[in-house]
Amino acid sequence: MGKLDQRTALVTGAAMGNGFGGARGLAKHGATVYLADISEKVHEAAKLLRSEGFAAESVLFDVRDSKAIEDAVQHIISKEGSLDILFNNAGVVRLKTFLEMTDEDRDFHFNVNIKGIWNCAKAVYPHMLERCYGKIINMSSVTGPMVVDAGETAYATTKAAIWGFTKALAYEAAPYNINVNAICPGYILTPMAKQIAIESNPQDPDAVIQGIASAVPSKRLGTTDEIGDLVAFLASDESSYLVGTQIVIDGGSTLPETFGAVGQY
Ligand SMILES: NC(=O)c1ccc[n+]([C@@H]2O[C@H](COP(=O)([O-])OP(=O)(O)OC[C@H]3O[C@@H](n4cnc5c(N)ncnc54)[C@H](O)[C@@H]3O)[C@@H](O)[C@H]2O)c1
Repeated sequence: MGKLDQRTALVTGAAMGNGFGGARGLAKHGATVYLADISEKVHEAAKLLRSEGFAAESVLFDVRDSKAIEDAVQHIISKEGSLDILFNNAGVVRLKTFLEMTDEDRDFHFNVNIKGIWNCAKAVYPHMLERCYGKIINMSSVTGPMVVDAGETAYATTKAAIWGFTKALAYEAAPYNINVNAICPGYILTPMAKQIAIESNPQDPDAVIQGIASAVPSKRLGTTDEIGDLVAFLASDESSYLVGTQIVIDGGSTLPETFGAVGQY
């Protein structure tokens, strides 16, 4: 018996990285998982999960396209009978200084990272309300709500906005047995983290990854399987009294108060 048996989940941005890790985490505990992405690679990702013995399907959509999301959600509900879990994960980043950040860069972040999360929640919410059951897990970050690095004005703004959205929707949804929570990762080793390393130091991206690892108390980046385990917990009834929380999963990266100036270890 898996804790997510008989549950159906939709995961956005699931072709790779945290979305794929989340999809695998949900599938591992028995959920039937629909992996959604703008990239055709999502079909291979679902195939890989099926080859591991899990129930996985793929759908192509852009989280900026409300109509395409609606159609996919209706398709899933008519095929599976219900849609219980949304892992609202798809997100993008472009590192630029504030002066270099164009309106197009700003809107790209806002449209994918904020409106995309909004659009997907809007599509699944009426069905969850009708059934008085649902789990929505929004992908925020420690970047924005808690910490920042240079070049992240647009990205950080969007990830902080997701905190506000999560709390406000959680408050409305809780009386209907719908749990809305957010997860806030530090650095997780995904294609996005590798892209950030390349943008930061095109000559030696590995040095950037090593630099991040050495700055984290756990001395490594997180894995997408660790994201998957947290997502499975939040998608299960083990977390039924968690409402509007933001769970940090960062290997301790946001802990240092004086970066070693005080104390010894
Ligand atoms: N990797 C990290 O260190 C880290 C840390 C904190 C938060 N996050 C968040 O985790 C989420 C996933 O990040 P990742 O590191 O796995 O990124 P990634 O770039 O490795 O994967 C992102 C996936 O989202 C898909 N995607 C992008 N735009 C889309 C759109 N418009 N519609 C549908 N799919 C789209 C991409 O095709 C890709 O498959 C993001 O929201 C990111 O902000 C990542």
